[in-house]
Amino acid sequence: MKVILAGGTGTMGRILQQHFAATGDEVVVLTRRPELRQHPAARMVAWDGRGRGDWWRELDGADALINLAGRSVDCRYTAARRAEILNSRLESTHALGKAMEACPRPPAVWINLSSATVYRHAEDRPMDEETGELGDDFSPRVVKAWENEFFRHARPGVRQVAVRSAMVFSRKGGAFPRFAQLVRFGLGGRHGSGRQFVSWVHEDDVARFFQWIIDTPEVDGVVNLSAPDPVREIDLMHALRERIKPLFALPSPRWMLELGALFLRTETELVLKSRRVSSKRAAALGFRFAYPGVGLALEELLPVAER
Ligand SMILES: NC(=O)c1ccc[n+]([C@@H]2O[C@H](COP(=O)([O-])OP(=O)(O)OC[C@H]3O[C@@H](n4cnc5c(N)ncnc54)[C@H](OP(=O)(O)O)[C@@H]3O)[C@@H](O)[C@H]2O)c1
Repeated sequence: MKVILAGGTGTMGRILQQHFAATGDEVVVLTRRPELRQHPAARMVAWDGRGRGDWWRELDGADALINLAGRSVDCRYTAARRAEILNSRLESTHALGKAMEACPRPPAVWINLSSATVYRHAEDRPMDEETGELGDDFSPRVVKAWENEFFRHARPGVRQVAVRSAMVFSRKGGAFPRFAQLVRFGLGGRHGSGRQFVSWVHEDDVARFFQWIIDTPEVDGVVNLSAPDPVREIDLMHALRERIKPLFALPSPRWMLELGALFLRTETELVLKSRRVSSKRAAALGFRFAYPGVGLALEELLPVAER
């Protein structure tokens, strides 16, 4: 197969580069930094994430397109950054849509990233694709606009799948090393009330999920990607402490988190929003997670030698 990873240089992109290269597929990464050297088998191709370019040719005859591009949300949400977070997703999706329209032999499947943060703050019940309620603050609004832009570019013969991903637990970057770092620094007590849910997915399941979508023609439209067992934050911190064994673990009330987030130049939403997401459609269509519970995932991600 030839697989195109647009914006495939970040945490998820590197997971997928490794996976598809190991499977023997041809991997092309569309990036604004073509000089980057990541997986030796991945070919970096320049694009600007906005307009047309020579990269259009790469889509012709490819088998799958996966779009991961978007400005990181791990930052303070100033007006300028909010605009960047939104526009980077809309513009890159639009640019790919235009390229797909013009492509003589487009990939049969186009997967666009989306996010499980589209659902409202939920402690009461799991949010699945059918009965989940969407939120209405900044992040859900970005995700809704992103999905709308994606599905606007429907083309006969191209299966479109929007993956509402939970937080990826990976050693390669993103939220997981941040959580582990908090615990190492003695801040692994509960955050806020600690009752908020963390929906997460192990990196191996991320790779298996994208492969499964490509291989399973019945999957289309919106699918959630989240391990079946979201954990309360207080339990996640407990599980992390069991493995990291910090000398102490201070709880962080909301005001302290607000202050800390200012210094770390991030937003408290990333730890305080309750994300209780269910991958109901994937389960119904036969996908099984290799890491359904957080205990098993942490055993793999934090082996004894790395504590
Ligand atoms: N990781 C998670 O836990 C998670 C969970 C839910 C949803 N998601 C979503 O899934 C996607 C991939 O996640 P990730 O963790 O791999 O993200 P990431 O590490 O932030 O990487 C995203 C990539 O997007 C590209 N990018 C950034 N700003 C851009 C812009 N203005 N225009 C075009 N491209 C731009 C960058 O590639 P270049 O600099 O090489 O061009 C970057 O490497 C993101 O959109 C993210 O919001 C991630």
